[in-house]
Amino acid sequence: MQVDNKDYRTIWYNADTKNIEVIDQRVLPFKFEIVEVKSATEMSKIILEMYVRGAGLIGAAAAWGIYLAAKENSDISFIEKSAKELSETRPTAVNLQAAIDVMIPELRIAAKEDRLELAKNLAQQISDNDANSCKRIGELGYNYIENKIAKGKKRRINILTHCNAGWLAFVDYGSALAPIYEAYNNGMDIHVYVDETRPRNQGARLTAWELGKHGIPHTLIADNVGGHLMQHGMVDMVIVGADRVANNGDVANKIGTYLKALAAYDNNVPFVVAFPTTTFDANIKNGVKDIPIEMRDGDEVLYMNGISEKEEESFRIAPEFTQAVNYGFDVTPSRLISAYFTEKGIFESVEGLL
Ligand code: MRU
Repeated sequence: MQVDNKDYRTIWYNADTKNIEVIDQRVLPFKFEIVEVKSATEMSKIILEMYVRGAGLIGAAAAWGIYLAAKENSDISFIEKSAKELSETRPTAVNLQAAIDVMIPELRIAAKEDRLELAKNLAQQISDNDANSCKRIGELGYNYIENKIAKGKKRRINILTHCNAGWLAFVDYGSALAPIYEAYNNGMDIHVYVDETRPRNQGARLTAWELGKHGIPHTLIADNVGGHLMQHGMVDMVIVGADRVANNGDVANKIGTYLKALAAYDNNVPFVVAFPTTTFDANIKNGVKDIPIEMRDGDEVLYMNGISEKEEESFRIAPEFTQAVNYGFDVTPSRLISAYFTEKGIFESVEGLL
């Protein structure tokens, strides 16, 4: 996607330095900064500390982390140790483990002197596949919006989204936002309600920034507003991303997604989940019971970040004696989901993917 007329992906290989570069998402929207990543250990740190985040991007970052490991030392034992460190950074988004599971078996059987080139090619493939899948989700999702949501409505189409499943969450294009970009590019009058998405505010900080940079009309809302809007016919469709989709169609996504799905169900608003099929985990039979949920530092709930004057600052929002618990994700049962948007097609049930 473009930022101020320049094409960017969220992660890329720099042919001059042979290192990896990423957009630092911790400082958006107040600063746009590129960070160079030189080792697998550094890559683990930038995933853990959320310089990069979002299911698809975490997968690509892990793949490039394995490339960096092979650059440092192409012994398979060293690469496998680095892969283990990478896999322990964030548990919910399955794309991370999926990338490792593609790369490690191939690197294991390759000759030592071939491993670096192979790791680079595989990481590039994983990145390109992620971007291409998202592009296709955009095209297919736009058809759905046009034919099922906007048909017969001679007015603006209002979509609600939670967290950030735009191009910043992937290598490019995004999952939930890709159909919105496609609709806007094709001239649809479309507007997005953006959930702020406490505690880290990926909606307020990242989704609002992305949409605004693309010129898409959007309105930021507090996380509790969606139900009210749906009761009053102000939302035509909810679309969210996914961090892991289980075999039974249950979907793990950013904490708070489940409540939006309940409100959508109660108000007959289509609730759609968009994801590349790398996010589907056939090994998890029951999403609500078995998808691992990341627990994050309670300080993310106790403090909020924002800009005052020119510098970003952190402010405590609860009494000194109060503790917080911070579940990163929740799981939406399949019965609340109207459609799954994937690069392989649009399905009413996840059985379409089996
Ligand atoms: O904790 P994050 O920012 O890595 O969470 C990921 C998300 O942004 C969402 O859950 C998203 O909707 C799915 S990832 C494409």
